[in-house]
Amino acid sequence: MVRESDRLIRTDVPHSARIWNYWLGGQDFYEVDRIAGESGESVFPEIGMMARQSRRFLIRVVRYLAAEAGIRQFLDVGTGLPTMQNTHEVAQGVAPESKIVYVDNDPLVLAHARALLINTTDEGVTALIEADFHDTEQVVTEARNILNFNKPIAVMFMGVLGHARTWDDVIRITGALQEAIPSGSYFAMYEGTTEDQRLVRLSDYYAKTGAVPYYVRSVDQVREVFKNLDLVAPGIVPVNHWRAGDDAMAEPPSAAWGGVGRKP
Ligand SMILES: C[S@@+](CC[C@H](N)C(=O)[O-])C[C@H]1O[C@@H](n2cnc3c(N)ncnc32)[C@H](O)[C@@H]1O
Repeated sequence: MVRESDRLIRTDVPHSARIWNYWLGGQDFYEVDRIAGESGESVFPEIGMMARQSRRFLIRVVRYLAAEAGIRQFLDVGTGLPTMQNTHEVAQGVAPESKIVYVDNDPLVLAHARALLINTTDEGVTALIEADFHDTEQVVTEARNILNFNKPIAVMFMGVLGHARTWDDVIRITGALQEAIPSGSYFAMYEGTTEDQRLVRLSDYYAKTGAVPYYVRSVDQVREVFKNLDLVAPGIVPVNHWRAGDDAMAEPPSAAWGGVGRKP
């Protein structure tokens, strides 16, 4: 085990962010994560492709929010390990004054984020909150130290809410965050869905083997999260089809679906 400040980084059990990093083709995972990732690939061989499509969706969403919607404040819940084009790099690439608050509860993610993601430039701010997203009060209270909740904020839950314990939790968590942000704010999310039965099998497999539980949801459930928001075109769609250009539209739909909504 590796000690990171006062929390232990467990190298004997797989972690979501590290398996995800393995599927994305990164280098920040341990043997136990590689084994879990590989066994996942044997159940759903396209999982790596889905991870990369999802990450490209995240990048397009942040670029849209910064460049077209004029958003300058981002609350990115479930940061993941640093990879190419992280949220703050995309947002501050468009508008250097952007403020980004990352939230995660994985000790390795927190260690990497402290080393690589957090910074304050003359113009922008990138900060980190160590929190479990189930504790929305902590997330909002700490985010208020950095973000101005009287001005539009983009809240992002990208591939994260599958780790919520129940669907009621998802509705409570997303409702609390949507409630906390002002009119003119945005909410973005993607999730693995039941559209592809192999992803359902993968989820069941991880639940049975005791590896990181990730609950896949139906597309209708993903839509339900946006019910009080105005959907940005093209709505809730496979992540590889969201504002992706003609070439990507010819790709088969990803099992991950997502979208962006604006709070009226
Ligand atoms: C599948 S990764 C997605 C990373 C990134 N958002 C992306 O789209 O590439 C899930 C992330 O959620 C984080 N996470 C899982 N459960 C969490 C919880 N209860 N509270 C906060 N973060 C959590 C994990 O540590 C990991 O970084």
